[in-house]
Formats: sequence, structure tokens, C-alpha cells
Amino acid sequence: MNKYRLLVSIGLISILAGSLLAQVKAIKAGRLIDTEKGTVLANQTIVVDGEMIKAVGPNVPIPEGAEIIDLSNATVLPGLIDCHTHITGQASDRRRFQNPFIDTAVIAHIYPKRTLLAGFTSVRNLSAGSFTDVYLKRAIDKGVLDGPRMQAGAFYIGSTGSHGDVIGLSPLRSSKLPPEMSGIADGVDEVRKKVRYLVKYGADVIKFGASAGVLSGEDSVAAPQYSQEEMNAIVEEAHMWERKVAAHAHGAEAIKMAVKAGVDSIEHGSLIDAEGIRMMKEKGTYLVADVYVDDYILENFARFGASPKIIEKEKIVGLAQRQNFQKAFRAGVKNAYGTDAGVYPHGWNGKQFFHMVKWGMTPMQAIQAATVNASDLMGWQEKVGSIKTGKYADIIAVRKDPLKDVKSLENVDFVMKGGKVYKNDAN
Ligand code: ARG
Repeated sequence: MNKYRLLVSIGLISILAGSLLAQVKAIKAGRLIDTEKGTVLANQTIVVDGEMIKAVGPNVPIPEGAEIIDLSNATVLPGLIDCHTHITGQASDRRRFQNPFIDTAVIAHIYPKRTLLAGFTSVRNLSAGSFTDVYLKRAIDKGVLDGPRMQAGAFYIGSTGSHGDVIGLSPLRSSKLPPEMSGIADGVDEVRKKVRYLVKYGADVIKFGASAGVLSGEDSVAAPQYSQEEMNAIVEEAHMWERKVAAHAHGAEAIKMAVKAGVDSIEHGSLIDAEGIRMMKEKGTYLVADVYVDDYILENFARFGASPKIIEKEKIVGLAQRQNFQKAFRAGVKNAYGTDAGVYPHGWNGKQFFHMVKWGMTPMQAIQAATVNASDLMGWQEKVGSIKTGKYADIIAVRKDPLKDVKSLENVDFVMKGGKVYKNDAN
């Protein structure tokens, strides 16, 4: 009897010890990109304990019993970060069913996994037409769904008739949503209240519409859609709640108003002028420019039923945005990677690297935009964005050298998030 108990305990203890040890992993990295310094290191060992990076270096001892992951023929880099997704849906499959909220909610869970498997281990979701992104994020954090770490924006805050509104219907057949299910807010009091409401129900980041947009019914693509006072109020209120603010802005005037208000990032920034560039540089405002998506919109959106007006608006911003992205980067404006994925298929997040390089960045600079810079913009610089002791073990790898062939980041071979391997085709 005693002997039996002893055997059972020994058995249990060894199972326990085995599972504890299995949590320790040692990655052998043939090449490792140091995103903080912008250099490549050869033959590094990364020790991963549970969710975190425990050690990294050329002579790090491998703990006994650690699971070895051999990436000695690959280039290893921190998980990528997309600062502008719409992860709850995809333009190509809008309005499948009748109820937009329920439709979105039941479908949305497939997209975070595609994003993660593409090597994007963190995203900033800007935004969703519901609180679905907040709930996706919670399910991912609990381990119920596979997906990237996320900051959720929930509703886009926009004025009546703006890029965030539904326009073109008769006021008699109004599309009016209950205020609880909409980001529409006018005037200083309403915009403040909307920020508080979004924060109360889980928004990690606040996005508002400073200018008109492309994929919406207004005539202008550039005109400001809030007054300076309203923009100031949004930023002041959000910062009071310790939330960063992203401003959707294509037009030069709206960009300057938003920068003046103190936003943390300008999204799109398509028609920025020299003064706007100067102001962003001075204030340290990030530019998040989705410089791939123009190709996809012009190729597909007429087929999806977009109006000729929308296609015309895209033609106004498309090339100009790429040229201005280059000007702003050359002038020293900070840049973080953000794609507008959702306008195009999730999982294609890496396609933008090629375009950033085509328009003036080195591959290393583009990788830094999607790692260290992006984590800085998100306020997650202590957690992600580089392979450093004490950060989350969010690690990806490609067999090719992405510094020579940046397109290799469109199809990554290895994905680890929080110490867990989601994909390994690296051998
Ligand atoms: N969501 C943006 C808008 O509708 C998409 C703009 C895409 N075009 C571009 N060239 N970045 O305004």
C-alpha cells in the first residue's frame, strides 16, 4: 500500500517536473535581427520560459531538459505589429446576413488567427462597427481563440455625415443606430462623453475621424470633419483616461488640426503638406500610412459594388499618399507600420513591406516600423517589439533573408506568441 502510494507520488512529481521543463524552450537562431539597434547578430540562443524571453545572446547556456527549436538556417525577428487593422471583418464579404452586429460577431473569430499565422503577433484595431474587437481581444487573452495581442478601438468617433456615418439614405428611411451602438458624436460635450463611453466598455485606444475618407459617401476625401475644439476635446479626454489617440486624416488641413490637438498618430496622412510634415516632426507624432491598400482597392472595389465616387476618391489619394509617405519619412517623421487590413484580406498584412521599401525605406527601417516603432506608438515598448530579456516571447522566423528579400515577410515560416509555437515550417 505504502509502496503503491510512493510510486504514484513519484509518477505525479515526474509528470509535473516534465511539464515545467517543457515550458522552457531554447531557440537556436542562425541570424537574429536586433530591431532596437538595426543590426543582425549571428548564432544566438534565445531561452524562453513560459510566456517570456529569459535570456538571449551568443553564449547563453541551454537549460537542461529545454525543448530545442532549431532555427539555425533562418532569420529570426520579433513578432510583427500592425498598427491599423479592422480585424472584425473583411470588405470582400460584407453584409452576408441581415443583422450587421450579429453577422460581424459570428464571423469575426476567423480573422485573428489568419493575422497571427502571418507573423503579426500584435495589432492595434482601428476600429470596429461594434464592440466585437473588445470581445475578440478578451477571448484571445483568455486563450479561447488564437490571435494576436490586441488593442481594441471599438467605435470610430465621427461627426454626423462623416466617414464614420452611413450616408446617402433618405432621412425618412434613416439608418440611425441607437447611440450605444454608434460612434457618431457632435460638439465638445458629446465627443467627450463618447470617449468616456468607449473607455467604460473596453476601448484600449481611441480613433476619431479628423477628415473625410475614401470608402464612405461624402463628396470630399480631404475636408475636416471636426472643429479644432472638438478634436482638442477628444484628445484631452482620451489622454486623461490614459488612452492613445489615432486620427483618421487624409487632408492637409485636417492633419494639421489633429496634430495641433495632440494626437499620437495620423492614419493615412495622404495629402500632408510641408507644414504638416514639419509639425509632426516637431511634436513626434507618428505617421501610420497604409501604402499597399490602393492597389487592392483599384483592382477589386468596383467589383464589390463601390460607387464611381469612391473609386475617384481613391485615385486622388493613392499615388499622392505614397509620395508623401516618402517625403515625410525622409524629413524625419516617425513611422509605424499599419495596413488597413480588413479593407483587404486578413493574413496579407505583410504585403506592405515591399511598398514601404519601394517608397524609400531600407528593409531594416520597414522592419523597425513594424516592431520597435509600432510598440512605442502602442505604449507597449516594454512588452514587445524586440527580442530582449523580459519581453514576451513573440518571435517569428523566415528561411530567406528579409533584408535582401523583404517579400519573404509575406509568408513567414515560424510563429511563436507568448512562448507557444503556432507555425513551424522553418526546417
Ligand atoms: N479606410 C480608408 C478610407 O476609407 C482607406 C483608404 C485607403 N486608401 C489609401 N490610399 N490608403 O479612407
